[in-house]
Amino acid sequence: MKTDFTLSNGNLVPAIGLGTFRIEDQSVAANTVRAAIEAGYRHIDTAAIYGNEEGVGRGLIDSGINRKDIFLTTKIWNDELRNGRIREAFAESLERLKVDYIDLLLVHWPTGKYTEYWSVFEELYDEGLVKNIGVSNFTMRMLDELLPLCRVKPVINQVELHPLFTQKPLLKYCDSKEISLTAWSGFMVGELLKNTELLKLAEKYGKTAAQIILRWNYQNGVINIPKSTNPERIKENFRIFDFKIEFDDLKHIDSLNQNLRKGPNPENFDF
Ligand SMILES: NC(=O)c1ccc[n+]([C@@H]2O[C@H](COP(=O)([O-])OP(=O)(O)OC[C@H]3O[C@@H](n4cnc5c(N)ncnc54)[C@H](OP(=O)(O)O)[C@@H]3O)[C@@H](O)[C@H]2O)c1
Repeated sequence: MKTDFTLSNGNLVPAIGLGTFRIEDQSVAANTVRAAIEAGYRHIDTAAIYGNEEGVGRGLIDSGINRKDIFLTTKIWNDELRNGRIREAFAESLERLKVDYIDLLLVHWPTGKYTEYWSVFEELYDEGLVKNIGVSNFTMRMLDELLPLCRVKPVINQVELHPLFTQKPLLKYCDSKEISLTAWSGFMVGELLKNTELLKLAEKYGKTAAQIILRWNYQNGVINIPKSTNPERIKENFRIFDFKIEFDDLKHIDSLNQNLRKGPNPENFDF
């Protein structure tokens, strides 16, 4: 069973990564990253704004994993994007993470003149400091604006995506542009795990609602980055490669869509 997806530039990304939003304590971040690596994760998602890059970096070192075996994502925060501080912010992230390159660097939110500063992401990519570049929270309208101006296209768009907000039009659009989607808040921060339809499917497959959501994304070619600080749940969220959801059940999960966001709308956020 393949546990990686191939990006449009030929690079691989592990299909399951560890999300780290709302893990503010550096020791908790370090222990969580180490537990995830012990459970088999090879992909960690952080961001400068999460305030835990130092702990994430420490967890990577403590785990003893080789740098080349980890796919590490971080994101440039909005103030830095608006103020033209991308290179400086990037250098600060490297310093906190104690690494000398990043596997995936994302524009955290579509803010400022992204059609202009995307060239800085392209330069970091040319210089080998970043192995892949991408965006987050970009709508089709925003990608339509950005893509014609790209010398190096974003390989990933990281967006809110879950069974109540399936993002099918964006998924189809990104597929046509060879951009992979990563799902954030895939569990709606835990809320969705009590959904009765998902619990019924969990019972049918002898899995948990969390594993049903993760597997649904995986079978749709969507990258998952579930967040947990609990070692048992970290393991649970990685155990999705040993079963398969039938086609009709995938469609049933699709049908739960309500276009319901848990987080802000990229067209009108105010931060
Ligand atoms: N690009 C962006 O703008 C953006 C925005 C939001 C998030 N993200 C990324 O996406 C990641 C995931 O999203 P998220 O953190 O918002 O929420 P999430 O992954 O949807 O849900 C995390 C919540 O679910 C609980 N949980 C996890 N696994 C579970 C399981 N197997 N059973 C029961 N409960 C479980 C966690 O609690 P415990 O920790 O107690 O297990 C936590 O409260 C973030 O951590 C971050 O890396 C990106």
